[in-house]
Amino acid sequence: MKITVVGAGAVGASCAEYIAIKNFASEVVLLDIKEGYAEGKAMDLMQTASLNAFDTKITGSTNDYEKTANSDICVITSGIPRKPGMTREELIGINAGIVKTVSTSLIQHSPNTIIIVVSNPMDTMTYLVHKSTNLPKNRIIGMGGALDSARFKYRLAEALEAPISDVDGMVIGGHSDKGMVPLINHATRNSVKVSEFLSKDRMDQVTEATKVGGATLTKLLGTSAWYAPGAAVSGLVQAIACDQHKLFPCSVLLDGEFGLHDLCIGVPVILGKNGIEKIIEIDLNDKEKAHLNESASGVKKTNSLLEF
Ligand code: LAC
Repeated sequence: MKITVVGAGAVGASCAEYIAIKNFASEVVLLDIKEGYAEGKAMDLMQTASLNAFDTKITGSTNDYEKTANSDICVITSGIPRKPGMTREELIGINAGIVKTVSTSLIQHSPNTIIIVVSNPMDTMTYLVHKSTNLPKNRIIGMGGALDSARFKYRLAEALEAPISDVDGMVIGGHSDKGMVPLINHATRNSVKVSEFLSKDRMDQVTEATKVGGATLTKLLGTSAWYAPGAAVSGLVQAIACDQHKLFPCSVLLDGEFGLHDLCIGVPVILGKNGIEKIIEIDLNDKEKAHLNESASGVKKTNSLLEF
């Protein structure tokens, strides 16, 4: 199993590290445009192999796509991250050009690959990869919901004063401060609805803190986060590489599911060796449906800024 991660910045490197530590891939290629940077990160990570007990071989490449040839899964993290006060949507100008070039270069060398898009604005970048590569829709997946759901569970555990392993919850919708739809009415503490434990106000606080999860970190760190994004990507990669048939909310191209068409947005999917094995159309109440539709309008507005 060969995996390429494009972009050796903090998210790309942390993604490569988590993939290696989980020890399911034979090879990870890190690629970056900055001379020597991916090679350096790969060497540093390889020097943790004996310490962290993994056998995955990590190599670096300065923009040489030949080295990525025949990758089973490619992850695109390239582009600029947001700075404090910026929205993900503001990155579209620079990142669209980068993501288009990267995705077409990857396909030239790995025509059968599955692509995971992390670059922001992620839902729009995922849509752009569909438009630029024409790959079957099961083979392009945007990473947002897995990360947002992890942040949701963190906030739920905090509010419930419970261990994370007691908590389950999911965030659908766009990967943006306004567009996220944390499904708090579906969230549970060991099968008991969280509304049994939390007041309406506390549930609203959890929802709001989840939606600005990335922005909160950007403010604290001066740039966007990397540990949870890297770990979330590694979870998706592992589900595909090991044909796990795990359910994650991911940004996928919709063709009528949830009443939505011609956009990529976060919905629950099953991931396995073919990428998206199935989209799961869960029942949403009227309020959740309205939030998802509002979120979809926001994503479509950002998509309209794309030039093909
Ligand atoms: C975040 C970036 C990866 O939410 O979008 O941290």
